[in-house]
Amino acid sequence: MQRKSDVIVIGAGAAGMMAAIRAGKRGRSVVILDHARAPGEKIRISGGGRCNFTNIHAGPKNFLSANPHFGKSALARFTPADFIAMVDRHGIAWHEKTLGQLFCDDSAKDIIRMLLAEMRMAGAALHLGTEISAVEKTESGFRVSTSEGHCEASSLIVATGGKSIPKMGATGFAYRLAEQFGLAVLETRPGLVPLTLDPGLLESIAPLAGIAVPAEIRHGRTAFREALLFTHRGLSGPAVLQISSFWREGGEVVVSIEPDIDIAAHLKTAKQINGRQSPQTALGEILPKRLAQFLVEREKISGNMADLPDKVLLRLAAGVQNWAVKPSGSEGYRTAEVTLGGIDTAALDSRSMEAKAVPGLYFIGECVDVTGWLGGYNFQWAWASGFAAGECV
Ligand code: FDA
Repeated sequence: MQRKSDVIVIGAGAAGMMAAIRAGKRGRSVVILDHARAPGEKIRISGGGRCNFTNIHAGPKNFLSANPHFGKSALARFTPADFIAMVDRHGIAWHEKTLGQLFCDDSAKDIIRMLLAEMRMAGAALHLGTEISAVEKTESGFRVSTSEGHCEASSLIVATGGKSIPKMGATGFAYRLAEQFGLAVLETRPGLVPLTLDPGLLESIAPLAGIAVPAEIRHGRTAFREALLFTHRGLSGPAVLQISSFWREGGEVVVSIEPDIDIAAHLKTAKQINGRQSPQTALGEILPKRLAQFLVEREKISGNMADLPDKVLLRLAAGVQNWAVKPSGSEGYRTAEVTLGGIDTAALDSRSMEAKAVPGLYFIGECVDVTGWLGGYNFQWAWASGFAAGECV
């Protein structure tokens, strides 16, 4: 391992590799260290293996942070168009799936190969399988002790991600290091994660496992319209993952199934057209049959449509489109796509990601208290914050 360089990057994920590329292209000598056997493991598994690498609509409004303004500078200086230009230079085919989300046509591995090629061109030296045992401040910068010996540099960029998916090597290293250097770390919690339900409710929805429907899910003033998926553990699907980042333990979410359809009006029309049909049949024209049956049984409604007063139909419609659910919890870091909270942005310079109180020390990517919605926003933050640090070291 090269003993002295201008820059050491810890973490060869999305943010760390981008920082190494930018710093290397600016003529800095860069060493990048990772304890994993392969770089960019989360990129590899992302987007169902196709990597939702950015979102063309990405802007500060798509991120959660105690300081919603913090990300603006970095996001403006490395945009989705900048990343798309890199992807195009490497001849990687991509497509927009939905809502501005861009995916590789073939494989997320194309993005990893691209970043590795860019790192080679930038002269960054990648060391995998390298455990970090200590980081110290020296007179001229930082000294990092590792299982492969030690190295020194004037700048240290920490890009070790959050706590999500510990099975993939997530460690919380960045938070400990921030604390070592006196930086505040805000409470962390799992984000973009399926929500779980109490055993009683779970048992009643068990027959629905595997059903996906268009839905709007609300928590307070925040709402997302995407798919809702019933699972054996509770509720999942993009709409649920999105709202999970806003939901807090003990809180409620309000589910509206098929929000673009006026269910009450549909039921009233169905009653007029064919009063002899059952409410299950009428609802089953719009919803999957098992779900229609569940919703009717939950309201304890029986008889034909003709037997049901309009107020009962309205109650049934409200059960479909105004269903208040109190999740018992979330699936936690085991399956969360991201970690909310993290290194307090108040401690960092928003232009460079440098710690205000520790010149030469930078934090980027998921470990910082900036968390994107589902849909390519988190990678855009990784690229943008990585670029910002690489530009300034
Ligand atoms: P990241 O976690 O990518 O990299 C951290 C690196 O640091 C890793 O290589 C790790 O091995 C290394 N490291 C950790 N601790 C260390 C230590 N102590 N010593 C040395 N090295 C250490 N986002 C998105 O925008 N689109 C998508 O499609 C998806 N899909 C997706 C699917 C799944 C299943 C998950 C879990 C997550 C996503 N995400 C996503 C989120 C996205 O993966 C995430 O936001 C970024 O990978 C964060 O990039 P970072 O570089 O900050 O951390």
